[in-house]
Amino acid sequence: MSNIIEIQGLTKKYGSLTALEELDLTIEEGAVFGFIGPNGAGKTTTMRILTTLLKPTSGKAWVAGHSVADDPRGVRRAIGYMPDFFGVYDDMKVWEYLDFFAACYEIPPSSRNGMVGDLLSLVDLGHKKDEMVESLSRGMKQRLCLARTLAHDPQVLILDEPASGLDPRARIEIRELLRELKDMGKTIFFSSHILSEVADVCTSIGIIEAGRLIAHGNLSEMRKQLRAHRLIQVQLLGDTAPLQEFVLQQEHVAGIDTKLDADMPANSIRLDFSGSDEQLAQLLGRLVAQGFPIISFKEETGDLEDVFMQVTKGIVH
Ligand SMILES: Nc1ncnc2c1ncn2[C@@H]1O[C@H](COP(=O)(O)OP(=O)(O)OP(=O)(O)O)[C@@H](O)[C@H]1O
Ligand SMILES: [Mg+2]
Repeated sequence: MSNIIEIQGLTKKYGSLTALEELDLTIEEGAVFGFIGPNGAGKTTTMRILTTLLKPTSGKAWVAGHSVADDPRGVRRAIGYMPDFFGVYDDMKVWEYLDFFAACYEIPPSSRNGMVGDLLSLVDLGHKKDEMVESLSRGMKQRLCLARTLAHDPQVLILDEPASGLDPRARIEIRELLRELKDMGKTIFFSSHILSEVADVCTSIGIIEAGRLIAHGNLSEMRKQLRAHRLIQVQLLGDTAPLQEFVLQQEHVAGIDTKLDADMPANSIRLDFSGSDEQLAQLLGRLVAQGFPIISFKEETGDLEDVFMQVTKGIVH
């Protein structure tokens, strides 16, 4: 598969502040890429450079084969951009608003009417066609804004926090919409701080902090990349003291934790293990051979939130 977005050594300085530092990133065609990071990390800055609204201090970027520096018009034709703030809605009806943007993209009046109807039904606003834009709820405005970015049928959608400020149901609606757009063949680059929200809709994620990309890949690849410490829970039929002594002498066991969480069963310990799956299987084999009465042996798999916390706390690099 080819890369539809390519970023090389992108740096952006605002005076003495370095908002982006040597960012490298590639995104495959058809991907739904979640760009995750805390406030001020550099997400909007990156998106504004990709959409040609902001010039980088140094570095290069291409969207759909067009260089943002040398062919900004080509880039703009290829992308639909939804900024992180609402535009001004003036005194317009919902359909007029979309018709206006379609006209801006020089779509002929004859095909505009049908297109506006299609876009409204895609974002589930067909029933609001004749309402005033300012009368819509925030979630509806967000969906209308998304419809607007689709007016010229772009290959790539760049969406800055499309789900921010929405209630859980409206967030789910946006997520469903992203899935539909992916199925239509769009590549989607969107930002968020709500990690659990993006996990199941993304094909890949990147985590940015203080202008640096600190992790990139699909979720399971990222876990592997990040995890030098695997946490293994072992539960015995009886006292764990002999087990503790034994495991601490084993290879790849960096330590043990006997302070149980509320949800851990009695007679359990947690191992901090740095080996591979094969080495983990060998460790289990040795424990069984020693006659330890093991009733459970399992790896704790954290969710996306844990991965993020590990990275941003700098525990694992
Ligand atoms: N026009 C500007 N002038 C000066 N500094 C800026 C400007 N725009 C952004 N910054 C700074 O650059 C850094 C990155 O900002 P950016 O808006 O890209 O972050 P973000 O990841 O989008 O954050 P948020 O989650 O709050 O939207 C921040 O420290 C911000 O204060
Ligand atoms: Mg932002």
